[in-house]
Amino acid sequence: MPARHQRWVLGAVVGLGLAALGGCASTEASATDRAPLPSSPTAVAQAAPPAEREAPPAFDLTAHSTTDPRSIWVVVNKRLPITPADYRPDPMAIVEGYQVSPAAAPALERMLAAARADGTPMRITSAFRSHGYQEGVHEATVARLGRPAAERISARPGHSEHQTGLAVDLGSLSEPGCNFDACFAATREGRWLAQHAVEHGFVIRYTEATTDVTGYQPEPWHLRYVGRPLAAELARTGATLEETFGLPGGDYPR
Ligand code: DAL
Ligand code: ZN
Repeated sequence: MPARHQRWVLGAVVGLGLAALGGCASTEASATDRAPLPSSPTAVAQAAPPAEREAPPAFDLTAHSTTDPRSIWVVVNKRLPITPADYRPDPMAIVEGYQVSPAAAPALERMLAAARADGTPMRITSAFRSHGYQEGVHEATVARLGRPAAERISARPGHSEHQTGLAVDLGSLSEPGCNFDACFAATREGRWLAQHAVEHGFVIRYTEATTDVTGYQPEPWHLRYVGRPLAAELARTGATLEETFGLPGGDYPR
């Protein structure tokens, strides 16, 4: 029996026991004050918690495609390139001057507005990046850091979530020196995102605990839109997209 079930059943048994004790201890309660006692084993069985029916419905992992780049559940990583390679959202939406997928735009606007309302305004620092633009970003990063270090923070063209328009990098206004840096996690903007992004359907895609699966160093500023149901499911399980859908991750194939 799953642990959640065991706890539920235990709680129900304890609850029933306490209810029974309460009935015994209450000498002043008249017979009509008490709930009628089960009159037969069948009635007892009917009164027992329907444990098997209480299991939460399994999360439907087939609700959206994980391969179509237009899908909010598309999984893009070092093993799973975007197909077609020259994909770009069409039409494109614009949020605060940045191109994003129309699927993510309303949620992104709501999240930025909510952050502002909480006294934590922040700005977009990168959103949709075309295949060609990512090529330039990646080559510049390799030239700056060398290939091994660059590959841990920058996707090869065709392998970046930014090309789907579903990923955004967010920047701090209070500590702009931490933008694109590990210290972003400790800024008020980074802490707000860690706490609230899921409410808006976003997940922090690259975390310390998941570098082997994602293939990237932690990026507390890189938010990926997956929609609220999946964001909540990932927050509940702590699993990556790859683990959730049983898809390959890690490094590029050799
Ligand atoms: N920085 C992320 C991994 C990208 O280049 O898409
Ligand atoms: Zn990013």
